[in-house]
Amino acid sequence: MAEPVRYEVVDGIAVATLSNPPVNALSAALRAGLFEALRRAEADPSVAGLVIAAEGRTFIAGADISEFGKPPASPTLAELVAALDGAAKPVVAAIHAAALGGGLEVAMACSWRVLGPKAKLGLPEVKLGLLPGSGGTQRAPRLMGAAAALKLMVSGDPMDADAAVAAGLADTVVLGDLLQAAREFVKQPKPKPVSARDEGLGDRDAFEKEAAALAKRAATEPQIADCIACVRAAFEKPFAEAVAFEREAFLRLLDDPRSKALRHVFFAEREAARIAGLPKGTQPRPVARAAVLGSGTMGAGIAMCFANAGIPVRVIETDDAALARGMERIRGTYESSVKRGSLAPEARDARLALIEGAVGLDATADADMVVEAVFEEMGLKKQVFAHLDRVTRPGTILASNTSYLDIDEMAAATSRPQDVLGMHFFSPANVMKLLEVVRAKETSPEALATATEIGRKLAKVPVVVGVCHGFVGNRMLARRTQQAERLLLEGAAPEQVDRALTDFGFRMGPFAMADLAGLDIGWRIRRATGKRAPVADALVEAERLGQKTRKGYYLYPEGSRTGVVDPEVTALIRRVAAAEGVEQREIGQEEILDRLVLPMVNEGARILEEGIAARPGDIDVVWLHGYNWPAWRGGPMHYADSIGLLHVVARLAAFAEATGDNTLLPADLLGRLAAEGRGFASLKAD
Ligand code: 3HC
Ligand code: NAI
Repeated sequence: MAEPVRYEVVDGIAVATLSNPPVNALSAALRAGLFEALRRAEADPSVAGLVIAAEGRTFIAGADISEFGKPPASPTLAELVAALDGAAKPVVAAIHAAALGGGLEVAMACSWRVLGPKAKLGLPEVKLGLLPGSGGTQRAPRLMGAAAALKLMVSGDPMDADAAVAAGLADTVVLGDLLQAAREFVKQPKPKPVSARDEGLGDRDAFEKEAAALAKRAATEPQIADCIACVRAAFEKPFAEAVAFEREAFLRLLDDPRSKALRHVFFAEREAARIAGLPKGTQPRPVARAAVLGSGTMGAGIAMCFANAGIPVRVIETDDAALARGMERIRGTYESSVKRGSLAPEARDARLALIEGAVGLDATADADMVVEAVFEEMGLKKQVFAHLDRVTRPGTILASNTSYLDIDEMAAATSRPQDVLGMHFFSPANVMKLLEVVRAKETSPEALATATEIGRKLAKVPVVVGVCHGFVGNRMLARRTQQAERLLLEGAAPEQVDRALTDFGFRMGPFAMADLAGLDIGWRIRRATGKRAPVADALVEAERLGQKTRKGYYLYPEGSRTGVVDPEVTALIRRVAAAEGVEQREIGQEEILDRLVLPMVNEGARILEEGIAARPGDIDVVWLHGYNWPAWRGGPMHYADSIGLLHVVARLAAFAEATGDNTLLPADLLGRLAAEGRGFASLKAD
């Protein structure tokens, strides 16, 4: 492997160039190389100082996250930063791109920071459940003032070059030769190290005000509370003591299950972006124009996704009236964003100009990709695909947004099944980030690569899944829905069930969610498929359809979107349970949570066994971005690993026995992993 740090001396100035692709993370080898470069520059009497520059798409992306949890190798980041801070000669950071986390901490320990116009400076550690752990909580306040530094840390978002200089975090922005400008800085006398600039902390009251405003986040996110405590320590403790205090907090957070979950998410998201088994060199096809069939709930949102990404899109309906309704829906959604202030009127106009309406499927003829979002009926979908096969150009991607139907059957209605796949968006499509890209039996690698690439362009998180009823997300959700209904029959109250999930970290429980979506949707599907859900059915039959009728599982007083407990529902559930012959009992919160979540994990295991998802992390990403699973819980499969698969298996087996419901019996894969003392995460190594 090439050396990660290149050292050269030109005209009496040493330059250490970092080259540790892909993002110059501060791996042990990079730290050692940089440390050695500093020692050489300090030891060489002919050298006036050191410039740290970097090659590649970032300056330094931060500590190497994959090294966390392993024994630290010397020089540690803390040792490197201390050496830079105490260097006998000036050291200049020449930052051409992002300097993040530990990368910014390295830069802050230098004498000067010189930025290229594309530089971005940030401390994103909080997003990983951490805080800057190599002096960042002490140096940033001394450079930009404590209040501003706290803001930077808790947002986790980077500043651009001009803002960083204006804030005092960096010294200058250079439009020309960055390296040359950095060399000029070396020639100046070395300033006081940042660690010694206590006067930079600024107004304590301003900091305390900023801290007070964070009280709510600090109560639930330990890294926020620790950021506040560390910056406060900058006022109250000598520098070295405050750095030790920060170190202690960093190590504590590193070991916290919440940070472990967030780090798992970081890698799972990036892994999900790689399509398993894709032949090397597979190229996505260009998509210059798209068509969306149907402008209902989903079609309208999907069309907006294309327009938001700057891709011209034709929205196609069966008649003028339906089209007018669809276009109005789109305009209305943009309009409310403008009213909320999240979209400029010019951007709205530009996006609307990219959306064109048409009637009839022949209008798909010039599209490179067609996303079908018509009614959920196989007969209709097959007709639509056969028609698309006749009118679209060869190579056009033909995608279905179906929630449950068999994509292979749709593909078989065409003469080009290799171009057919699922692109399953989540409602509201213009908001939710998940895109399940459904690989059918004959989907070609190019079609798959095109759909995922477009997904990313639409700012979605694409996850490749296989064909089955409900794919990954809805298939697992069905297990939870089943148990939620069953828990009511057994004696749990709707608010108890919802609370189990909101306490766990979800924004809403299943019944509040059902009331929001409308109970009639599920009821109609159950009627069509001959299924029953006795409590949900009884509610619909009592004309309790949810928020739209102001009563469902809860009662919604005039003008309120927050439900209150309704004694009528309690009585209705009791009646239904008696009619079903289910004896009611008190059910504890722990059992409720396990009954809701563990059957999903079990279904996830079956999904892995069947190869519907390639990796457990993919399932986690589906739940994080499609169903708002709390990120700090890492997703259902990571959660199962964190509580131990032996425990999961024992609980499921006990539930299966108590309820006589064999779907709760642990899946083979789950049983095998548990027996071998392994977790889902170990499947990566298989
Ligand atoms: N450590 C290890 N690997 C990293 C990494 C890091 N800090 N940052 C990125 N990578 C890896 C990714 O896993 C990915 O690997 P893969 O190709 O094998 O999947 C590869 O680098 C490229 O990453 P992206 O796909 O994310 O590339 P982008 O160009 O889209 O984004 C980035 C680049 C903005 C730097 C983004 O990767 C990022 O946000 N990285 C994390 C930054 C961060 O959180 N830094 C703080 C780390 S914690 C820290 O520094 C602690 C300190 O205070 C002590
Ligand atoms: P919808 O009923 O709101 O809209 C369907 C639209 O398709 C209607 O406007 C209808 O006029 C139009 N349409 C019917 N036949 C057509 C044809 N031959 N050509 C052009 N347009 C036609 O339905 P919704 O909710 O948008 O669902 C659409 C698809 O998306 C379904 O397959 C559904 O399962 C799926 N889906 C729905 C989600 C949801 O939350 N509503 C979530 C994810 C997927």
